[in-house]
Amino acid sequence: MYNERLQNVSVLGAAGKMGSGILLLTAVEMADLQLKPENKNKSFCLNAIDVSPQALTGLYGYLKSQLKKIAEKKLIQLREVYKENRELIENSEIIDQYVDDVLKLVLFSTKVESTYESSIIFEAIVENSDIKVATFKQILANSKKDPWFLTNTSSVPIGELDEKAEMKGKILGFHFYNPPAVQKLVELITTKNTNPELIEFSKIYAKNLRKVLVPSNDFAGFIGNGHFMRDMLFGIKQATQLSKEMSLPEAIYAVNRVSQDFLIRPMGIFQLMDYVGVDVCQKILIVMSSRLNKSELHSDLIDKLISLDIKGGQNSDGSQKPGILKYEKGKPVAIYSIDKKEYVPIESFQKNVDAKLGQLPASHKPWKDIVGNKQKESLLVGYFKELKSMSTIGASLAKEYHLSSKNIGLELVSDKISDNADNVNTVMLTGFFHAYGPINSYLD
Ligand SMILES: NC(=O)c1ccc[n+]([C@@H]2O[C@H](COP(=O)([O-])OP(=O)(O)OC[C@H]3O[C@@H](n4cnc5c(N)ncnc54)[C@H](O)[C@@H]3O)[C@@H](O)[C@H]2O)c1
Repeated sequence: MYNERLQNVSVLGAAGKMGSGILLLTAVEMADLQLKPENKNKSFCLNAIDVSPQALTGLYGYLKSQLKKIAEKKLIQLREVYKENRELIENSEIIDQYVDDVLKLVLFSTKVESTYESSIIFEAIVENSDIKVATFKQILANSKKDPWFLTNTSSVPIGELDEKAEMKGKILGFHFYNPPAVQKLVELITTKNTNPELIEFSKIYAKNLRKVLVPSNDFAGFIGNGHFMRDMLFGIKQATQLSKEMSLPEAIYAVNRVSQDFLIRPMGIFQLMDYVGVDVCQKILIVMSSRLNKSELHSDLIDKLISLDIKGGQNSDGSQKPGILKYEKGKPVAIYSIDKKEYVPIESFQKNVDAKLGQLPASHKPWKDIVGNKQKESLLVGYFKELKSMSTIGASLAKEYHLSSKNIGLELVSDKISDNADNVNTVMLTGFFHAYGPINSYLD
């Protein structure tokens, strides 16, 4: 069943941030199947579909360069695969042959009609429920196969898509993290309607791709964005509160620093918003607040930033665009002032604000020294014990933030969005690279 389903696959939105990674991973998985001697005479086809022809042109170059890197890493395995082909002697010849073989599977198209022969459809188009539903309906009405859909939606409940597009359980949420080729985490969202064979298929696919599959229940935002969005709103609330005593850019700097340095996270909360895209955060909040009926899942600050065209996100070379913060060589150098409508250099206020926050605990180590450290657990226990005993502004903000993050995690469990605390912690550890899960007892 698995191999047959993978003989004709489509990726919708293939030239996008997520679609391009999904395409790459799926192309490699399909090529690995096709190169097995028993599949020699079977045909495999992967449709890379995107409405933007220019973006598809760029996609070819991306695929080629990534495939070369993948081939270099699995050269020994490829020598075995191509051992019958005596013309391939040099490493470079084997690499080129593999890249060619994978690329031969991929057909580029701007038409949704190209999905009609596919048995598996990965969907990674724009985060808009109506557009997704219309696309699914069109495919279901015309497909010659009985396709299964794996959607990458960040927030729309799968049950809603299933019902509106009348999919009869032929869809599940297979929520990759950005970038899909690198991030290990995938959230799997099924409903009571989901076809069990499709669930089985997605588990084998995830295992072959060596992904960490965490089940999330079908609530808008799921576990990952369920935590991130609420954590972000807390950060915004803290900065807004703090801006009564200092300017808003200074308060944003302070909370960004607290959520990164004091909490030993890979980046501060405002930098993470820029990384994801302030506009993407706004869209996810809109879906979550309407579907969960929770009007508090909203931010005036985000709406204001978007109205001023402050969006963040990445350039096509992967570098960070200016957002709430402005970056030079990947490092924040300025913060946007809504009042002045310009970026204020961090160095103009950094000393003052750092002095207000106070020193980091003496046992502090940066995230990169903690995350892979064998003594991580004891280092964290010691660090938080020291933080708990401190009463500086920075330590107080950090303790509040830490507690809020824990409560968000606990709420995800009590609201049955996550089956248990472990799943929340795994999502934050693997999908957000936190050094520790939010549900912990460090400050108890
Ligand atoms: N960016 C992230 O961090 C992230 C993470 C997880 C999930 N997601 C989800 O993945 C999906 C895609 O997000 P993205 O960030 O890759 O967006 P993106 O804008 O980078 O890519 C979307 C692609 O879809 C194409 N497209 C739009 N409508 C289409 C249609 N009707 N048919 C075919 N192609 C179409 C666009 O041209 C674009 O290339 C969304 O549902 C998003 O919520 C995004």
